Amino acid sequence: MPLPAGTSIASRVRLNQGLEIPWLGLGVFQTEPGAVTRHAVTYALEAGYRAVDTAAMYRNEVDVGDAIRASGLPRDEVFVTTKLWYTDHGYESALTAGRASQDRLGLGPIDLYLIHWPRANSPQDRLDSWKALIELQRQGVCRSIGVSNYSVRHLAELQAHSDVVPAVDQVEFHPFVYNPELLRYCETHGIHLEAWSPLTRGRHLDDPTIAAVAAAHHRTPAQVLLRWGFEHGVIEIPKSIHRERIRENAQLFDFALTPPEVAAMDALRGGPRVGMWNPADIP
Ligand SMILES: NC(=O)c1ccc[n+]([C@@H]2O[C@H](COP(=O)([O-])OP(=O)(O)OC[C@H]3O[C@@H](n4cnc5c(N)ncnc54)[C@H](OP(=O)(O)O)[C@@H]3O)[C@@H](O)[C@H]2O)c1
Repeated sequence: MPLPAGTSIASRVRLNQGLEIPWLGLGVFQTEPGAVTRHAVTYALEAGYRAVDTAAMYRNEVDVGDAIRASGLPRDEVFVTTKLWYTDHGYESALTAGRASQDRLGLGPIDLYLIHWPRANSPQDRLDSWKALIELQRQGVCRSIGVSNYSVRHLAELQAHSDVVPAVDQVEFHPFVYNPELLRYCETHGIHLEAWSPLTRGRHLDDPTIAAVAAAHHRTPAQVLLRWGFEHGVIEIPKSIHRERIRENAQLFDFALTPPEVAAMDALRGGPRVGMWNPADIP
């Protein structure tokens, strides 16, 4: 489902657990901790972004929290996601890790807490992590909970053992890994898909199909890649440390791709992946 007409950078979409998340957020994976992260978050908030996606593994939660507090924006205007790293799977370790992420961010409740990867010592381990996330939500450490890098198989496993449906599944999502089966599963079950590496980490910005669509709209390849995700109704979290690119990546709400353009980009499906692990290979 494409974005509703009239959607702007300030627009949010309601998740199944009741919270509303902005369609666009800043990603901070591989953004150096310290001033680089603080500046990137500040540029994004100045450009109108109201969501930031971090993780314990990125080692920059402290800086994300600092920049959000320094912005002076009311806390409930900025949506913060962080994630449980896979070495912290298991009930007790996930509880400890969630509270530690909350402390590092220093923003009160985390808006969205995700299991970063299904990769675990055993399926039971990740099911225990999910129970811990439910408990963290009950205790007010986080306001909503979800998963990341879950394939349909991992989602079905979780749903066979829990009545709490993940608010989101955050996965690698761009034309080269277009996954309509996962998208359909999530739509059917009320799980919102979030796209990581929506810019293919810059690796496919010169692809001829993308370049042709960009030229037709007088836009950049990065903007066309991000808009393609919106045409599929997914949340986008592009990463940049540069003020100009952060602005460029937010200029997505005043144009739309045509169905044939979307179809031409869908047809790029077939890899390669950007991420080092393929969720389908994780038992
Ligand atoms: N859940 C997960 O397992 C997972 C995995 C990976 C990523 N993520 C999340 O998703 C976010 C985005 O994914 P990503 O960081 O992997 O990659 P990405 O957003 O697809 O691409 C980031 C790369 O593109 C460059 N870039 C940004 N804007 C550009 C533009 N307008 N023109 C040209 N190049 C541009 C950036 O360089 P500069 O910074 O130098 O501008 C950076 O090298 C992450 O930051 C993270 O929050 C989640």
